Amino acid sequence: MSLCLIILTLAALHPAPGTATHACAHRGDLANAPENTLPAIRSAVEKGAPQIEFDVQVTRDGHLVIMHDSTVDRTTSGAGRVAELTFEEIRALDAGSWFSPEFAGVQVPTLREVLEVIPETILCNVHLKGGVEVATESARLIRDMGRLHHCFLACNRAQAEAAKAVAPEIMICNMDRQGGNRTAYVDDTIARGAEFIQLHWGQGTAGLKEDVARLHAAGVRVNWFGAQEEGLIRTLAEAGVDYILTNDLDLCLRVLKEVGGNATE
Ligand code: G3P
Ligand code: MG
Repeated sequence: MSLCLIILTLAALHPAPGTATHACAHRGDLANAPENTLPAIRSAVEKGAPQIEFDVQVTRDGHLVIMHDSTVDRTTSGAGRVAELTFEEIRALDAGSWFSPEFAGVQVPTLREVLEVIPETILCNVHLKGGVEVATESARLIRDMGRLHHCFLACNRAQAEAAKAVAPEIMICNMDRQGGNRTAYVDDTIARGAEFIQLHWGQGTAGLKEDVARLHAAGVRVNWFGAQEEGLIRTLAEAGVDYILTNDLDLCLRVLKEVGGNATE
């Protein structure tokens, strides 16, 4: 690959903060497929989501699986805590029928399987659940698969430190939310040198544009969780948020296309 092509590829993967507002598919395209499964991830990829979020946990026997809740009860045919079930037990479950008969037989995926279906041009918001083991093992896998350039770990400080011990260059989204105070959260994220912050809808939009500008000046990219309403999506684009986590990917992509995906220029 020529130097020019490498530079262009890296620029596409890591647009400068503040140049556009993009959609992030929360747990994949969860409105149209069972959350955190390969059909939900594939659908988000096919629709062109620039970032995809999914949740990672460790099974009793040390496998990295994709699931939001600490138990399998809501999103599979089984029952019990992920941390107390083996990988074989979790793989035997139906993770699709609860959503629709069309998805009967869909299995709980592994982190490796999810990364294998997401192209390297899409950012992966790897949301860690549990303790430090999931951080260490996720960082190891992402490093070994050569995917550090488009994956970041959404995690707390202890998990970030554990991950960096394995892969020092791994990108971090600071998820220690400072008790809901946005100013403290912004200050802390900049001080930590995290690559991403994930502002929460509960923190409101008052003064958002100023906080986003401050984060961009420090080189921090800004995620927002979450937005399913057209008015809020437009407000976030006007404030210069980089990525909007949404449960309604179709709506978010349409609205951002209408505002040009570039409301901050
Ligand atoms: O900011 C929270 C966002 O990452 C979504 O979290 O795990 O409730 O889907 P979760
Ligand atoms: Mg999550």
